[in-house]
Amino acid sequence: MTNTLEVPDFANLFGIDTKELPDDCLEMIRDNNFNYLIIGGQERDKLILNIFKKIDAGEFSIAGEQGLGRWEKGWGESLNDFLESGFDISQLIPKYIRSSQPVRLFQQYVQPEDDSFELNWYKVFRRWLFRTYLSEVDAIYEFGCGSGFNLVTLAELFPKKVIFGMDWVKQSVDIVNKLAESKGYKTKGKLFDFFNPDQQFQILPNSAVITIGALEQTGKRYRKFLDYLIRSKPAIVINIEPTVEWYDANNLVDYAAIRFHLKRNYWQGFPTALEKLRDEEKVEILKQKRSYFGSLYVEGYSQSIWRPI
Ligand SMILES: C[S@@+](CC[C@H](N)C(=O)[O-])C[C@H]1O[C@@H](n2cnc3c(N)ncnc32)[C@H](O)[C@@H]1O
Repeated sequence: MTNTLEVPDFANLFGIDTKELPDDCLEMIRDNNFNYLIIGGQERDKLILNIFKKIDAGEFSIAGEQGLGRWEKGWGESLNDFLESGFDISQLIPKYIRSSQPVRLFQQYVQPEDDSFELNWYKVFRRWLFRTYLSEVDAIYEFGCGSGFNLVTLAELFPKKVIFGMDWVKQSVDIVNKLAESKGYKTKGKLFDFFNPDQQFQILPNSAVITIGALEQTGKRYRKFLDYLIRSKPAIVINIEPTVEWYDANNLVDYAAIRFHLKRNYWQGFPTALEKLRDEEKVEILKQKRSYFGSLYVEGYSQSIWRPI
């Protein structure tokens, strides 16, 4: 039986009331195909077995310091494609948002009808998130900004705000600066390493910090960056990241995500670290929400929204 993600499902996944969805998000939900089939029976068994086999065969790269070369190569290719296409924004869509694969939804695997289901879902999510939390700040910093894919949406939503794209990869910084040159955006690129934050780099007053699928890359080594943020006192911090602590280890689909997450050395221990900081009255936690949606392998869109006090 074909199912569809409807407006109330989006609201549920974002952790809001349907009334809080902006008009442009409602239009995007209406204009895209969010039909899907739940994968069951032997097909589901095959899918899960294949994931475990890939994990055990070590087919996935491991996050951490040794990954720099891999990211340089990836963003170098995006930079070249962007330049050679005459600054075509579609060249910046990250290749890890895969089309035509099953995705995970409400702790099941589902097969979307539309090849771009995950990308289209993410575009709705991002618009809602940015409009809701970033309208009032003067500047926005995306740490681990990669291809600059999110910065384009930020620059279009908020043309007057300064938007910083921070990454440890030079090619990524180059893309951000080329975006400013070619499109007239107020984007600025700057090298920055989570493992060794530049303590001299100051965040402007009334700014927002966002990370999207970036702190996941730090394993257990995000403490220096967290301390840097607490000292820098941005008005708000938004982390959209897979959060291993929020899965249910007694659910098989979740368990596969936990195994994948740990195998890749994605980030661990963050909710506890943040809650401890809250108890010490160093931060205020505004929202923690598991995403219940994601790729074949992980729920990459869980929300931790907070601010240093
Ligand atoms: C999965 S990508 C996400 C990119 C972008 N935020 C997005 O949503 O498309 C992870 C990003 O984190 C960056 N990254 C990984 N380790 C980092 C570190 N130690 N310091 C800064 N950036 C890092 C990578 O270069 C890459 O751009």
